[in-house]
Amino acid sequence: MSRRGCAASPARRSARWGCATWRAWTTGNATIAAVLNAAALRSGLATASQLGVGRQRRAQPIRVGFTYNVKRSHDGDDEAEWDPPETIIAIANALARQGHIVVHLEATPDLPRVLAEADVDLIFNIAEGVEGRNREAQVPALCELLGIPYTGSDSATLAIALDKALGKKVLLQHDILTPKFQVMESARERLSPDMRFPLIVKPNAEGSSKGIGSTSVVDTEDELRAAVKVCVERYRQPALVEEYIAGREFTVGLLGDKRPRVLPPMEIKFKKDTKRPVYDFAVKQEWEEHVYYECPARLTEAEQKAMEKIARATFWALDCRDVARVDMRMDPDGRIYVLEVNPLPGLTPGYSDLVLIAQAAGMEYDQLIAEIMVGGLRRMKDKRREERELEREREAQSKDLAKLADKDKSEKKRTVAKLSPAAAA
Ligand SMILES: Nc1ncnc2c1ncn2[C@@H]1O[C@H](COP(=O)(O)OP(=O)(O)OP(=O)(O)O)[C@@H](O)[C@H]1O
Ligand SMILES: [Mg+2]
Repeated sequence: MSRRGCAASPARRSARWGCATWRAWTTGNATIAAVLNAAALRSGLATASQLGVGRQRRAQPIRVGFTYNVKRSHDGDDEAEWDPPETIIAIANALARQGHIVVHLEATPDLPRVLAEADVDLIFNIAEGVEGRNREAQVPALCELLGIPYTGSDSATLAIALDKALGKKVLLQHDILTPKFQVMESARERLSPDMRFPLIVKPNAEGSSKGIGSTSVVDTEDELRAAVKVCVERYRQPALVEEYIAGREFTVGLLGDKRPRVLPPMEIKFKKDTKRPVYDFAVKQEWEEHVYYECPARLTEAEQKAMEKIARATFWALDCRDVARVDMRMDPDGRIYVLEVNPLPGLTPGYSDLVLIAQAAGMEYDQLIAEIMVGGLRRMKDKRREERELEREREAQSKDLAKLADKDKSEKKRTVAKLSPAAAA
């Protein structure tokens, strides 16, 4: 039987953990927890049930299922969004250092079966998924189906954010400025007269700057049609055509849930004096040659406040959870445009934008991973509390039913005694 359904289920176990126990376990020190609990019992400061140290209620670490896609090929950009083994090891180690048991779960088509049997308490999710514009939503949707809490945004947010045009519609609905755009499914479509060159062409549902290169910024209809054709044929999806925003580029990291913490904006500074700089695929591969980062970015107080406000509004508009990164450009008139939202940002140590931002904000890698975990842990506890309440209700109902049945039995006995005293005797 899986540990999920057995008598000492994780739900019941952790709910009874005392504070000291909880903190000590999460820092990986069970011995300290045991000593503290023993002292509290001896001095009468707490009862065994308050501390959850009853015989069957032995505290256990949390089993964290870690879902990811491993990058095995570096040819082309097919697996560009997937994570290299070094990143996976770094995250797994950070989780283990927090005292969790890490269960590795590669997000292959086998995952539904493996996850159903994995008996995990919580999922730490960085899986990009396998195919299609809903691919980032695949693991969260599976967790929702199986009732397993997980870190990060839910399936709806991940699907909408990956479909850039859909995400931009949500932003516009919330009066958040984003470059004017048009979706083209083929190179033959008419360009809207509202659109002003230069334009930039990118696949509608890719990340890591896949499909963005030296021919993506276009000045004429011929160039536009050529770029759309390459994009549609190569990535088998519509092309997103946007007005190119000249100006400085920034990315802003957020951590938390209802009231996310906005980390200091980071500016992407281009080393070469290019006419229209783009943080494209080639630049991201050889970033040291092309860019450097400034975090916190040099901004006036008003600009910084405006950027933080837009980042937070974007996070809320898309209903993000736990972590996100918002990419922006500021034009020469100081207008700030949201280019896109990344609710599943890269976490490669020393490389990914969010990790660099966290570092600049004085956060160690382990702390960044721990902060992403906070929301997942809270949802896990909420779920366990609901399960306990439901169980209590069920127990109360069955007690009531038993009482009713007893009452019914004695009434029947009394009736029989009245009608036929001899039989009753
Ligand atoms: N409308 C635009 N105007 C100016 N530059 C743009 C525009 N859209 C994209 N870019 C440039 O292209 C880069 C990549 O675009 P975008 O962030 O949309 O792609 P992505 O593949 O989702 O990237 P990632 O997921 O790695 O953040 C931007 O960082 C920016 O430099
Ligand atoms: Mg981006």
